[in-house]
Amino acid sequence: MERNISLVSLLCFIIFNGCLVFEADAVKSQRSEKLKLIHRHSPELGHNPGTTLGPPKNSEERLKQLVQSDKARLHAIKRRLGVVGKANDWVEFPFRSAADMGIGQYFVSLRMGTPAKTFTLLVDTGSCLTWFKCKYMCVDCSSVEEGQRYFYPNQSRSFKSIPCSSQECKTIDKASTLVTCPHPNAPCYYDYSYLDGLNVGGSYFNETVKFRFSNGQKKGLEMTMGCTDGLNQKNRFKTVDGILALGLNPLSFAVKAAHEFGGKFSFCLENHWIIKSESSYLVFGAEDQVPNMQFTDLLTEESKMTSLYPIKVTGISVNGTMLDIPSYVWDMTDRGAGGMIVDSGTTVTHLVEQAFEKVIAAFEPSLSMYNKTKGNLDYCFNAPPDGEFDETRVPRVALHFEGGAKLEPAVNGYIFDDSKGVKCLGFTRLAWPQMNIMGNLLMQNHLWEFDLANKKVGFARSKCMLD
Ligand SMILES: *[C@@H]1O[C@H](CO)[C@@H](O)[C@H](O)[C@H]1NC(C)=O
Ligand SMILES: *[C@@H]1O[C@H](CO)[C@@H](O)[C@H](O)[C@H]1NC(C)=O
Ligand SMILES: *[C@@H]1O[C@H](CO)[C@@H](O)[C@H](O)[C@H]1NC(C)=O
Ligand SMILES: *[C@@H]1O[C@H](CO)[C@@H](O)[C@H](O)[C@H]1NC(C)=O
Repeated sequence: MERNISLVSLLCFIIFNGCLVFEADAVKSQRSEKLKLIHRHSPELGHNPGTTLGPPKNSEERLKQLVQSDKARLHAIKRRLGVVGKANDWVEFPFRSAADMGIGQYFVSLRMGTPAKTFTLLVDTGSCLTWFKCKYMCVDCSSVEEGQRYFYPNQSRSFKSIPCSSQECKTIDKASTLVTCPHPNAPCYYDYSYLDGLNVGGSYFNETVKFRFSNGQKKGLEMTMGCTDGLNQKNRFKTVDGILALGLNPLSFAVKAAHEFGGKFSFCLENHWIIKSESSYLVFGAEDQVPNMQFTDLLTEESKMTSLYPIKVTGISVNGTMLDIPSYVWDMTDRGAGGMIVDSGTTVTHLVEQAFEKVIAAFEPSLSMYNKTKGNLDYCFNAPPDGEFDETRVPRVALHFEGGAKLEPAVNGYIFDDSKGVKCLGFTRLAWPQMNIMGNLLMQNHLWEFDLANKKVGFARSKCMLD
């Protein structure tokens, strides 16, 4: 079978024009279950030799892995915007897991099929196709890898193949759908080529995903997803059964589920650095009303380029003083210069140089008592061990958004341990012109709500209690 491999079909492109149309009266308000999010460094994943899953040996290793993964993701984002030249400038560090491709940092379990089976997926707020390792009309269905979980369509009564001859096939996702159609009832094939040569190939299908509401009620939702039977680098996905795509695109699981459940989805991220028992979660639908939630506009026009979640920053303040950062830095352009995206798949917050230098300059007076040193991030310093490090002397950073919303992250969202006795400031410098990215550490201890129906992003301080 000819696979129309194209490097640019990375993850998913926005090629739809009329996306995200929610009719207010079509939105059913219904609550859904909280799906537990597990960070990839969580002890719950156990030790997985040869991968970057489970707890790292020490904090230096932890930060190193996260920084590597951020680099991969940043590159993937730039690639998607078409601002990166050669394909080769990419392979600069060894890959060990899916997350090292910058796909995501959190895992979630979902129930799918009839009878329902549970699958563990890597969550990605940047991609659009949700796919599973799967065996369907494959050349060699009997070749299974030990310890791998597959979705077997022939064991589910609710499985529906999407024929390659259908109109649906032509419109699912033009960037990745293949023209191959050996006979009218053959499935609709896709091929995603990731930057470093990873291919995800298979066929689209419809299947019922099971949701359980907090009141005990159950609901199945028919979703269009991918049955991946072609993975050219299988070991990258050893510990997951696929990807759950939460990108801002009509094909995305998040967009469809949100449409069904109150027009929104949210997630709450606990501090994965210090909390050992995870309580981060993902919710489709309306969470309980959270007091003090602040909102800013979700820039859906701008998101069409990337399927990511852009919001408008108006400034950064340190200890209440607004920094003198040129405003164009926060304006998103179609070439990926400026603007800010909220991205749970990135760990550290990335700021373009004009903003980064001002933030560092504002921190420096308070950190000058510590000697600067080399570490995994751009600004690291020698600090006494945790117990003796005086967090109260660390300036308070706040991000200000259009409409007046103000995010005041906890200090541990922007000062992390590197190696023993070394701490780093959790901001990374990006050369202009690039896009600013808010990473998950800055987002933690907050509930983030993505109200797609009303095109708003909200956040409120939260302990992220699972129940
Ligand atoms: C489903 O397909 C798999 C792979 O082709 C096969 O091993 C299995 O026996 C089939 N199961 C049923 C219930 O047909
Ligand atoms: C698949 O599901 C979508 C809704 O998500 C629906 O529009 C489409 O008709 C379904 N296709 C098939 C072949 O069942
Ligand atoms: C900083 O470096 C100076 C000179 O190398 C050294 O004397 C001092 O003890 C260091 N201070 C700390 C807090 O590490
Ligand atoms: C910020 O506030 C902290 C705590 O109040 C203080 O120790 C620090 O010196 C201040 N830093 C700046 C740059 O104003």
